[in-house]
Amino acid sequence: MNHVTTLEAYDDDRGNRIEFGGTVDKNIRIKFRGRNNVLRVATQQNIAQLFVDFDCDDGLVEIGSSRGVPGLRAAIRVGDGCQVRIGKNVSSTTTVAMSTAEGTSITIGDDVMIASDIQIRADDGHPIFDVRTGKRVNAARSIVIGNHVWLGLGACVLGGVTIGDGTVVGMRSVVTRSLPNNVVGAGAPAKVVKRNVAWERPHLTLDPPYRKPTAASVKKSTDYWTLTVDPDSRPSRSREIYAGARRRTRKGLKAVRARARTLSSRV
Ligand SMILES: CC(C)(COP(=O)(O)OP(=O)(O)OC[C@H]1O[C@@H](n2cnc3c(N)ncnc32)[C@H](O)[C@@H]1OP(=O)(O)O)[C@@H](O)C(=O)NCCC(=O)NCCS
Repeated sequence: MNHVTTLEAYDDDRGNRIEFGGTVDKNIRIKFRGRNNVLRVATQQNIAQLFVDFDCDDGLVEIGSSRGVPGLRAAIRVGDGCQVRIGKNVSSTTTVAMSTAEGTSITIGDDVMIASDIQIRADDGHPIFDVRTGKRVNAARSIVIGNHVWLGLGACVLGGVTIGDGTVVGMRSVVTRSLPNNVVGAGAPAKVVKRNVAWERPHLTLDPPYRKPTAASVKKSTDYWTLTVDPDSRPSRSREIYAGARRRTRKGLKAVRARARTLSSRV
C-alpha cells in the first residue's frame, strides 16, 4: 500500500495518481491500496484536512475550487470503481465522513454547507442477506446532494438518496429517502417539515447585522430562492433528467424575458 502525506502531483507504478497544481503538507493522508485510482483537486482549494482511502481499483475523487467560504475537512473511503465528486465552495465545520463501495458514487453540488459530525454513506460497510432466499438486502446505492444544500449538525445521508437544491437537513436527522428542493427535512427518518424555504450562509453572530437579518438585509443566493417542486408533480422519468430540464427552463425563461425587454425598449 502506498501512503502519501503531502497533497501534490503524484503518480506511482500501479497507475494511481494525484492531479493537483499546488502543495498542501498539513493534515493529509492518502492511501492507495489498489490500482488506477485518481485524486483530482482544483488548484484554488481550501482544504483544512483530507484523508482518502482508495481501498480497491479505479476509484476517483474530485474536489472543486473554493473561495470565500470556510475550508473542507473530509475523510473519504473509495470502494471498487467508485466516484466522489465534490463541487465548488463546499465547506465543513469538522471532518465529514463519506463512504462508497460496489461501484457507487457520491455527488455533492456547489456551495454546500456541511456542519459538524456528518456522515454521507452510500454503503453500509458490511453485507446483510435474507436468510430464506440468500439474497443480498442492502446493496450500496449512489447519493446526489444538490447545490446550496445545508446539512445540519450530526446529520446522516444514506444510500439511494437525492437531496434537491437549496434544502436544509435538520440537526441529527437520518436521511433515508430523497428530499425535494427548498425544504427543511428533519427527523430520523427525515421527513419534509417545511416547504418553500431558502437559507443563507452569513453567520448570525459572526457576520453583521448580528440580529434578525431580513430577506432585504441578506445578500440572496437568488438562484436558490425557489418554490419547492413536489416529487408527485415531477415527470415519471429520473430526477436527474428533471433537474436538467428545470435548469434549461430557467435559462430559457431568462432568455425570453431578456428578449422581451429588448423588444419593449425598441417600441
Ligand atoms: C432544521 C432547523 C434549521 C429548522 O429550524 P426551523 O425552521 O425553525 O424549524 P421548526 O423549529 O419550526 O420545526 C419545524 C418542525 O420540525 C421539527 N424539527 C425541527 N428540527 C428537527 C430535527 N432536527 N429533528 C427532528 N425534528 C425537527 C420540529 O419539531 C417541528 O415539528 P412540528 O411542526 O411537528 O412541531 C433546526 O431545527 C435545526 O436542526 N437547527 C440546527 C442547525 C444546525 O445544525 N446548525 C449547526 C451550525 S451549521
